[in-house]
Amino acid sequence: MSGKAESWGSRVGLILAMAGNAVGLGNFLRFPVQAVENGGGAFIIPYLVCFVVMGIPLLFIEWSTGRYGGRYGNHSTPYILDTMAKGRIWKYIGVFGIFTNIAVASYYCYIESWTMSYVYHSVRGTFSTMNQAEIAGFFNDYTTIGKSTTGIPYEAIVFYILCLLLNTFILSKGLKGIERVAKIGIPLLLVFGAILAIRGLTLGTDGASDLFPDANAWDGLNFLWTPQYDSLANPKVWLAAAGQIFFTLSVGMGTIHCYAAYLKSKDDVALNAVSAGFMNEFVEVVLGSLIVIPIAAGYLGLDWVLQNAGFGMAFQTMPYLFQQWGETLAIFAGIFWFGLLFFAGITSSLAMGTPWMGFMRDEFNWSGKKGAWSFGLIALIMGLPTVFFFQQGVFDEYDYWAGTVSLVVFAFLETVLFSWIFGIKKGWAEINMGADIKVPIFFKYLILVVTPLLLGWVLVASLPDMA
Ligand code: PHE
Repeated sequence: MSGKAESWGSRVGLILAMAGNAVGLGNFLRFPVQAVENGGGAFIIPYLVCFVVMGIPLLFIEWSTGRYGGRYGNHSTPYILDTMAKGRIWKYIGVFGIFTNIAVASYYCYIESWTMSYVYHSVRGTFSTMNQAEIAGFFNDYTTIGKSTTGIPYEAIVFYILCLLLNTFILSKGLKGIERVAKIGIPLLLVFGAILAIRGLTLGTDGASDLFPDANAWDGLNFLWTPQYDSLANPKVWLAAAGQIFFTLSVGMGTIHCYAAYLKSKDDVALNAVSAGFMNEFVEVVLGSLIVIPIAAGYLGLDWVLQNAGFGMAFQTMPYLFQQWGETLAIFAGIFWFGLLFFAGITSSLAMGTPWMGFMRDEFNWSGKKGAWSFGLIALIMGLPTVFFFQQGVFDEYDYWAGTVSLVVFAFLETVLFSWIFGIKKGWAEINMGADIKVPIFFKYLILVVTPLLLGWVLVASLPDMA
């Protein structure tokens, strides 16, 4: 343990950093794909239910747990959890959270590095002379190490290293660096997102598309937003919904604890947690729904979207669809879209570095610089398999185990710790201490009973799918 030297510069900075932590690639790339793959409107109900009964409670738990641990001079999940209960097991569970952060960071930064490269190529107009097959081929070449048809030899590796260097550099500047990036990145992201979403919405039914005259952007939105009840009993959909809520809110791996540890003792957690959470949901369900799916459905039709929903859509299809807007606008659209993804990504990947850095500080008294560089190095080593074997599906394995299952496991354990071991009485007092809003008492019972039961059920019920 070492003394607490740093704290957040301002409330705006804190909220933007926390919102930046939550708002990420998940909002724009993962959410639409999860929604489409799990039946559109059939996904939305479990998703919203999970937000209320698990997401918000977990935000309260993680923010207050972090501030509590920070009060004792801790900066990392193992040490923070250790202050809440006797028994070393909780410390190890905190370490498990750190592993999750690093594992997610290593594949996450890989995608973040694509966004950097795609901004670069948008500026250069690389895509403007390509047809759809060529743009798709560009992505395949890019992600196949050893092919050098994209302009820079070993481009994926070059940008991956650049991206990690950038993250490491910012992290080495401490909270100030993180706050500054969030203050610039989040407003820009909102502006870029709003422009693209308006374009998505106004594609409408007017046959905007010469590509496919029957295409209709609203078909995409209707598919996403018309509730369907038939798959509510399917645990797989619930695991996917819970996994998405956790991933998008950045809960279930200890990241929020580490940001919240830098709060002052009397700082509010309740309103802050809810504000950051709602801001994330706004960006996810509004902006996240209004860009890729309607634009793709508007030009290529809903059937195409259903058959091709996947990660590549953002990189393989969007640059081509932007071309329909004319050469200059296409360049701007590319910069907006990949720039938006970049800011979403970097404000999240910075957050994933802090648990490791905090742990090195708590355990070995390492400086922020040393912590940041060691994080960059580990992420590089762990990320290389996703870079080299992306085409073989390694990436999806990382995302399933680190980005879905681990989050639910950790969330279940921390809820049990908070409600039953630390004790709901103390826990509830922590949530309400210094609170700028009155948290409805209903959340106390959710946190005590419903959240842990539901988490346990999601885990047990989805075990057969994990095998
Ligand atoms: N919430 C981020 C996203 O939606 C991902 C993330 C997960 C960030 C965990 C930090 C910690 O992309």
